[in-house]
Amino acid sequence: MAQAAPIDAIALLKADHRKVEELFASFETAKGDGKKKALAEQICLELVVHTQIEEQIFYPACEGAVEEDLLQEAYVEHDAAKVLIAEIEAGGPDDEFYDAKVKVLSEMIEHHVKEEEQRAEGMFAQARKAGLDMDALGERMNAEKERLMTQAKGGAQPRPESITFTGTRLAP
Ligand SMILES: [Fe+2]
Ligand SMILES: [Fe+2]
Repeated sequence: MAQAAPIDAIALLKADHRKVEELFASFETAKGDGKKKALAEQICLELVVHTQIEEQIFYPACEGAVEEDLLQEAYVEHDAAKVLIAEIEAGGPDDEFYDAKVKVLSEMIEHHVKEEEQRAEGMFAQARKAGLDMDALGERMNAEKERLMTQAKGGAQPRPESITFTGTRLAP
């Protein structure tokens, strides 16, 4: 069997970002509660899995390679998003603030993605410059993502859990 092409860590994370942006755009124009709920749930799942692979694999690898301030802010931004994700998952389109929560979540993610992807100074650019092994990281994140997505399909949805509130940031 031919060896699969290596998956670059940053390409994988950026592809996730683009996918979630598309889902947010679809939510904005979606009509009907069923469609909205399905889209919101997909957004939440994508984001929980994405934040998890970043927090467990990519961010710890960035320690020492990326400015500490930027890393800390990224963890806090993830956790702020998880509060909204948990509320959206627990609610439904009937809730008064449902659409507003999805909208604010999209704005928070937009800001966060900018900080990761920003040219030259962004987290990804700093990590690339520091020479992290993006193929190895991409492979590990892809495997973990597949594992979490398969679990979710089987009904075991990963939970949005705070890292900074409980001080459980992983060591590199
Ligand atoms: Fe990200
Ligand atoms: Fe992130």
